[in-house]
Amino acid sequence: MSYNIAVVSGDGIGPEVCSSAIKVLDLISKKLNVKFIYKHYAIGGNSYDKFGTPLTDETLNGCLEADAVLLGAVGGYKWETLPHHLKPEAALLKLRESLGLFANIRPAKVYKSMLNSSSLKKEVLEGTDFIVLRELTGGIYFGKPRGMDKSKGWNTMIYNDYEVERIARKAFEMASKRKQVVTSVDKANVLEVSQFWREIVTKVHQDYPAVKLNHMYVDNAAMQIVKNPKQFDIILTSNLFGDILSDIAGMITGSLGMLPSASIGSKHALYEPVHGSAPDIAGKGLANPIAAISSIAMMLDLSFGMTKAAEIIEHAIEKTLNTGIRTVDIAGSNEQAASTDQITELILKNVEEIFNEQAIGIFLL
Ligand code: NAD
Ligand code: IPM
Ligand code: MN
Repeated sequence: MSYNIAVVSGDGIGPEVCSSAIKVLDLISKKLNVKFIYKHYAIGGNSYDKFGTPLTDETLNGCLEADAVLLGAVGGYKWETLPHHLKPEAALLKLRESLGLFANIRPAKVYKSMLNSSSLKKEVLEGTDFIVLRELTGGIYFGKPRGMDKSKGWNTMIYNDYEVERIARKAFEMASKRKQVVTSVDKANVLEVSQFWREIVTKVHQDYPAVKLNHMYVDNAAMQIVKNPKQFDIILTSNLFGDILSDIAGMITGSLGMLPSASIGSKHALYEPVHGSAPDIAGKGLANPIAAISSIAMMLDLSFGMTKAAEIIEHAIEKTLNTGIRTVDIAGSNEQAASTDQITELILKNVEEIFNEQAIGIFLL
């Protein structure tokens, strides 16, 4: 069995965390006799510097042809003042749109050994396990008209019925296999687009009577995630609200450096850590690679059906954290922080050990 993976590692810590993730994939490949063929492409600021555009046709076509895409992060101080269409972030948006990646899955769960590392209290966190399901190819990120002149700037938040319907179906289907609760988050008390969203979600819900549907305003949802995160199963929300809520959810896991994501469409899939290029720590070997490695686990599970291998990676991350090793983002003020390489090596060692313990070999496939 062999799979083609397009790797667009991007800027800042993107290449650092992708390199850790690929080491884990290589080990899985060795253990399970499955071949991963990587093709590396430029994206973001480094692509702009080299080719004058943050997304070349070569990169786009490479991603369209691959079985799955692994992305690091894009962006950085250097490119902040470029016009919007040349910014590194524009490349990521175009990639999501061109690959039709309408469903962005961002799971927030707490590893037991991280219960004391979050800025939230242990009692609040314990047992938390929810997913932010963010609509990714519509809403204010893509609505027209958009623009700015000397005296104003404007964007349009717009949703078509089919866009809300397909992401709502995805939410109900995911909840059916979990705790059977969908919380649809909007701003229907103020925005027509949200009122419309709410009506469509309510209509789609009729096809899923076993799942409970709650509606919540986004300002309240932001507060509830911090106050009582256990109440959530699937948080279904639009592009902009999902962007904001998923960073808040990052703190449930202890750090943004822990939160993985999968972006899925009907033909393509892309996996990336939720965090950005972290220019403040880039190039120092300090980045937490867990979000990227965990995104690989999502790739194995969702794109290649290698569910057991994905579980082994998650288990190895947990075992690693249990030893008390911490990168700078999750280390307490008097703890010695480990480097990206140190934590990656330990995760690899634990993956290896779990394989040996279970002696499951080829049956996993
Ligand atoms: P960021 O996520 O890059 O960083 C926020 C903070 O979290 C920083 O202090 C950073 O050091 C820390 N952090 C993030 N990931 C970490 C990790 N793996 N290990 C340790 N610490 C980590 O967000 P920002 O500073 O708002 O944005 C920086 C740049 O990244 C911007 O150009 C932004 O547009 C871009 N960005 C890209 C993506 C993406 O490519 N998907 C996502 C978010 C932000
Ligand atoms: C994310 C990022 C992106 C977004 C940016 C970099 C375009 O913040 O993936 O969460 O806003 O979607
Ligand atoms: Mn974001």
